Amino acid sequence: MTKSVTTEMRGDIAVIWINNPPVNALSHHVRSGIVEELAVAQSMAKAAVLAGYGGTFIAGADIREFGKPPIEPMLGSVCATIEASSIPVVAAVEGNTLGGGLETALGCHYRVANPKAKLGLPEVNLGILPGAGGTQRLPRLLLNPTEAVNMVSSGRPISGTKAQEIGLVDQVSDDTVEAAIALATEVAGKPFEDRRLSKVELVTTPEVEAIFETAFGAITKMAKGAAAPLQAAQVAKAAYNVPFEDGIALERATFMELVASDQSKALRHIFFAERQAAKPPKDVTGSPREIKKIGVLGAGTMGGGIAMTYAEAGFPVTMLEMTDEALDRGFATMESNWSRGIKSGRITAEGVAERMARLTRTTDYKDLADCDLIVEAVFETMEVKRDVFRKLDKVAKKGAILASNTSYLDVNAIAAETSRPEDVLGMHYFSPANIMPLLEIVRADKTADDVLLSALAVAKKTRKMPVIAGVGHGFIGNRMLTPYFRQANLMVLEGASPEQIDNALTNFGWAMGPIAVSDLAGLDIGYKSRKDQNLDEHEARVYLAADRLVEAGHLGQKSGSGFYIYDKATRARSENPEATRIVEEVRAEFGINTRTISDEEIVERTMYALANEGAHALAEGVASRASDIDVVYNHGYGYPRWRGGPMHYADNVGLKKIAEKLSEYGDGAGGAHWNPSDLLMSLAEDSRSFGDWDKDNS
Ligand code: CAA
Repeated sequence: MTKSVTTEMRGDIAVIWINNPPVNALSHHVRSGIVEELAVAQSMAKAAVLAGYGGTFIAGADIREFGKPPIEPMLGSVCATIEASSIPVVAAVEGNTLGGGLETALGCHYRVANPKAKLGLPEVNLGILPGAGGTQRLPRLLLNPTEAVNMVSSGRPISGTKAQEIGLVDQVSDDTVEAAIALATEVAGKPFEDRRLSKVELVTTPEVEAIFETAFGAITKMAKGAAAPLQAAQVAKAAYNVPFEDGIALERATFMELVASDQSKALRHIFFAERQAAKPPKDVTGSPREIKKIGVLGAGTMGGGIAMTYAEAGFPVTMLEMTDEALDRGFATMESNWSRGIKSGRITAEGVAERMARLTRTTDYKDLADCDLIVEAVFETMEVKRDVFRKLDKVAKKGAILASNTSYLDVNAIAAETSRPEDVLGMHYFSPANIMPLLEIVRADKTADDVLLSALAVAKKTRKMPVIAGVGHGFIGNRMLTPYFRQANLMVLEGASPEQIDNALTNFGWAMGPIAVSDLAGLDIGYKSRKDQNLDEHEARVYLAADRLVEAGHLGQKSGSGFYIYDKATRARSENPEATRIVEEVRAEFGINTRTISDEEIVERTMYALANEGAHALAEGVASRASDIDVVYNHGYGYPRWRGGPMHYADNVGLKKIAEKLSEYGDGAGGAHWNPSDLLMSLAEDSRSFGDWDKDNS
């Protein structure tokens, strides 16, 4: 095996190169390699430079080693060894310098960064904290404690340029390694004791204490139940209050506690799940088609958001609508959405103008003839979609990809309207499409491999999180909402208030509860789709209160009231007495005796309903991995990331317990509609998990 750490002598300077593709993670052989090469360098060089091959310094600890027995040298002792070196060591910081990578740079005595380098401590995103001295060295280096607490608790990286501003690096240079060698040459042989960060003494002041206290409050609010951000900030504060060694001991103890926690396991699960989801399925071969120009049909909320996504990524976009008025409205909305970012500095007026210039408008299908990808976001009925695809089939050039943004409909049936079903697939965006990261890519029966690969490539270019789904009503995400909302609505009839349901689920970690989401989406949306569905008696009763609210003009947030009343100015919600009356009316009509429902029951019934439907989606092949379902719920539905996702959560609870509950509920609450999944039941019987199922089927 070629060595992952090697030394190149440049005169008196030893350049220690780390080469561990793809991201130069600090795997065991890298850690020991650094220690060995540095020992040699100290015997033959006057100074050393630590650099990474491939434009990346080090992207962090090797996450795959987490949870395995630790092997010496641990990263903490590698950083201490570098810091104790008899010759000065300069870090040449380029590309991703994250987590343990930044901690390694902090162990060095000097840092030279590329202005575009990304320096950060993203450990909190994995439910842990920097565990190799970073929480103690960073505050000792930075000019301002606020920056240190931000870096350890937010996980957000900063640029090399910003790093220089806050005192994290000594120099910036486009030619980073050469500049680091020059600096090493300059400092060789000179005293550098004051550069050993563990020796820097920090003292706290009332101002520092106040900064941390304020930060703790803000972090708790932002973290929404995630434990690591606050703990990371608290450990960083110790840098001001206790000697370095004690701070390191606290950091280690907190790291060990966090790395073994359910939250960290869940966050690591979702990290790998995201990367897995973005890869092409194994049976797919070839390469993507070239996409240079994109057409979008429909300039409403969805079409506008989708067009914004493409324009932001640099694609020229032709937008088609039925009328000029609809185009005027759509273009005005896009411009105003972008312009809102000018005030906060997210974008400049020129930036908005540049994006707008990428959009052209038409009411004539023929103008879509030069597009390589055409995405329709027109009205969600099969007749309208069929008509659109027949028209597209006539005008689109040979090899153009035709995509439907349908959120429920049968993409095979849509594809069948064309003479080229192999060019058709679903690209289901989530509203607002320019903000929400999820893209469900729906692979229809005849979708060609290179069409699927092209959709994945577009997702990457537009920074969306793709998940491939099979054809089936509502694909992965929306399909699972049905039983989730069913349980929420049922529990309202059984005695819980909308507020109790929503609070129980936001306390669980969801961004919003299901009743509040229904009000936000508009109760009339569900109402209309139910009218088309011919529901059975049980199902009709579940939604009767919602339907009566719509008939009485309470459509949700858009009409100012739904299950809740919304304050016009603040949108703050309060109980809607009319909703309470309607719910009571339905209860009385059907003789439903109310009872006290615990928050625990609310969580169980909704979360088990989700996992059960997820299992159906897996068994039917609509989802190919349980971990894909977790990605869908994290990126499209506001599921708490630190719980991993509905399927990972179910594994954590234990499928045995869920199977028992499903059988129990089957006789009572929710009745026949529980429809326990054979897959879930058999996994439970064999004491297996969805994670095991994924391993068997990958
Ligand atoms: N350990 C192991 N593998 C890693 C890794 C890591 N730290 N970072 C990335 N990889 C792997 C990915 O799993 C992926 O592998 P596959 O190709 O087999 O799927 C591959 O490297 C490429 O990764 P991406 O697809 O994510 O590539 P990208 O260019 O889009 O992003 C990145 C690169 C920004 C570095 C991103 O991968 C990332 O954010 N990585 C995690 C960084 C991180 O969290 N570091 C801190 C680790 S914890 C730590 O260091 C704790 C400590 O103090 C001891």
